[in-house]
Amino acid sequence: MKQTTDFLKMKENKSKIVMVTAYDYPAAKQAEQAGVDMILVGDSLGMVVLGYDSTVPVTMGDMIHHAKAVKRGAVNTFIVVDMPFMSYHLSVRDTLINAAKIIQETGAHAVKVEGGDEVIDHIRALVKAGIPVVGHLGLTPQSVAVLGGYKVQGKNADSAKKLIQDAKKCQEAGAFALVLECVPKQLAYEISNLLSIPTIGIGAGVGTDGQVLVYHDILTYGVDRVPKFVKQYTDVNDQMARALDTYVYEVRNGEFPEDKHSFTMKEEELQVLYG
Ligand code: KIV
Ligand code: NA
Repeated sequence: MKQTTDFLKMKENKSKIVMVTAYDYPAAKQAEQAGVDMILVGDSLGMVVLGYDSTVPVTMGDMIHHAKAVKRGAVNTFIVVDMPFMSYHLSVRDTLINAAKIIQETGAHAVKVEGGDEVIDHIRALVKAGIPVVGHLGLTPQSVAVLGGYKVQGKNADSAKKLIQDAKKCQEAGAFALVLECVPKQLAYEISNLLSIPTIGIGAGVGTDGQVLVYHDILTYGVDRVPKFVKQYTDVNDQMARALDTYVYEVRNGEFPEDKHSFTMKEEELQVLYG
């Protein structure tokens, strides 16, 4: 299994870091079998698995519940867990307690927090306490209400400058990697060159040190519309719908179960039973 320092080496060697989200045991198993470098138990679980319309309602309990399942499915893969909305914005003490709970109860290896300047003290304290941290800048979904929607960030020079400064601060505070979400490819490339820690992009072009996508988006599983930056490598919705439609049809028509799906009692036992 890779460690935080291996991701730094991967950046130095220009080998791309592959990350995918997972929220449960089967997805974690598949991700590990595919050989991904890191699994993210993202709070996107709120939207793709729990049916909320943002990540804001996701709780510590939700994250821990799902991260435990992921860990059981991928014991040999580096696992990052998102700290949910408001779990790292009160006191630094509260942040430490929450992160420790995530790490100790789930067996995950690192936490991820959204934001720059405003969370730097929290990142520093977590790293000091021995908890590896991934930063997350650009489109930070937990702040969607403040950002005014899911939009590309850092498009003008001023906001790009702020993003670059925040990225440097995350590195200085001790983050070992940085997710860049929905930023122009030129800016993501620039930040990746400026930093010594690896950047992991989602909707940030090919110039980052790694990529991350949401499991359900890659597979078209339970999602209808996906953002522009997603590549849908297959569509399992279609296959699943066909299988379930056939099941419904066959039960109603008595075509399922067949004899091969059924258990049989021996003739002599039947005779004892009925006399
Ligand atoms: O929650 C999530 O899935 C994420 C990724 C999109 C980076 O934070
Ligand atoms: Na997230």
